[in-house]
Amino acid sequence: MILSRKIASIHESATIAISTEAKKLKAQGIKVYDFSIGEPDFPLAEEMFSTGVKALKENFIKYTPASGISELKIAIAKKLHDENNIPCSEKNITVTNGAKQALYNAFLAILNPGDEVIIPRPYWVSYLEQVKLCDGVPIIAETDHFQIKADFIAKKITKKTKVILINSPCNPTGSVIEAEELKKIAELAVKKDLFIISDEIYEKIIYEKKHLSIASLNKEMFSRTITINGFSKTYGITGLRVGYACADENIIKLMNSIQGHTTSNASSIAQKMALAALTIPEKRIQTWVQEFQEKRDLLCKKIKEMNLPLLTPSGAFYVLVKIPIKTIDSISFCRQLLQEQHVACVPGEAFGEEGSFRISYACSKKDIQEGLEKIQLFLKKISKK
Ligand SMILES: Cc1ncc(COP(=O)(O)O)c(C=O)c1O
Repeated sequence: MILSRKIASIHESATIAISTEAKKLKAQGIKVYDFSIGEPDFPLAEEMFSTGVKALKENFIKYTPASGISELKIAIAKKLHDENNIPCSEKNITVTNGAKQALYNAFLAILNPGDEVIIPRPYWVSYLEQVKLCDGVPIIAETDHFQIKADFIAKKITKKTKVILINSPCNPTGSVIEAEELKKIAELAVKKDLFIISDEIYEKIIYEKKHLSIASLNKEMFSRTITINGFSKTYGITGLRVGYACADENIIKLMNSIQGHTTSNASSIAQKMALAALTIPEKRIQTWVQEFQEKRDLLCKKIKEMNLPLLTPSGAFYVLVKIPIKTIDSISFCRQLLQEQHVACVPGEAFGEEGSFRISYACSKKDIQEGLEKIQLFLKKISKK
């Protein structure tokens, strides 16, 4: 039987693959230092918990509109308007099963076969595969010490370019696009008549810098940008699957149509919980961010003590570290590290950055301390080979 050639050419998500292996070890009762998955470890906020329970008690378990419940879309539009300075309303919002689906629906809604999407490297694992699934062509742009640069993007523009994808703060590097650079990228998009897909899922997990949404720069940029965001990272509800996109009404209509024919709405209960998430005071969110910052500082200190080269991340909860040994590829490095030391990291190859590995520090400080010692032991051992 011939199966889909297109799907057969898609790579499995490396992050999910390694965290599945880590979970198997954990199921055998083995202590694993799991730095693989981007999943905050803090408990569910009381507002979300009680709202979820109430929604269940009230039997809020039926289909909702495919684009999400009106209250949630209104609350998201208000948040984007007030916090991000994006001039939008309910009709510009679609609620999806995670930001991942928002991205996928966005690509489906705007790409025609052969359209090129410029993706700066290192990139999040799913961008390339999603573009390919939507019959687009991913085109990789270099970065400068992980910083996205308009000039590097400009070099990749051809007649077929349709979209520039940006992700700030970035997974896997934690880098944040500078305001000046963001403005240059916006000018480029206008000059070359391109769409922007701006993945802002880590917008609140940002340290010394400030987040700036490209859709907020002017009306023109609003009309050509699809802003992607969600609740997984800021509120630690990765499993509940609520994300959203904000864009011009005509794009949102197409995205809603796709969603209506594929998954229908995001979970009704989870949508209510997301609505509750938006009532959590900024001050409390800042205490969570403070925790992440302390973990970043601890991790970076440890990495520096190990004499590994490091570009300190300004946001998200990842560090991409260079493997100091040339004779091992990143997949073998991460496999052996997991098997021998029970430390799970993601190979850089998955992010287009061979020769490195990603550490997610969304875990306890104790795990960071102990896990890094194990990485150090492993490095000593393999450098002797
Ligand atoms: C950059 C980036 N975008 C999107 C997503 C998807 O998030 P969600 O859980 O909302 O689908 C992730 C999750 O790891 C991510 O790192």
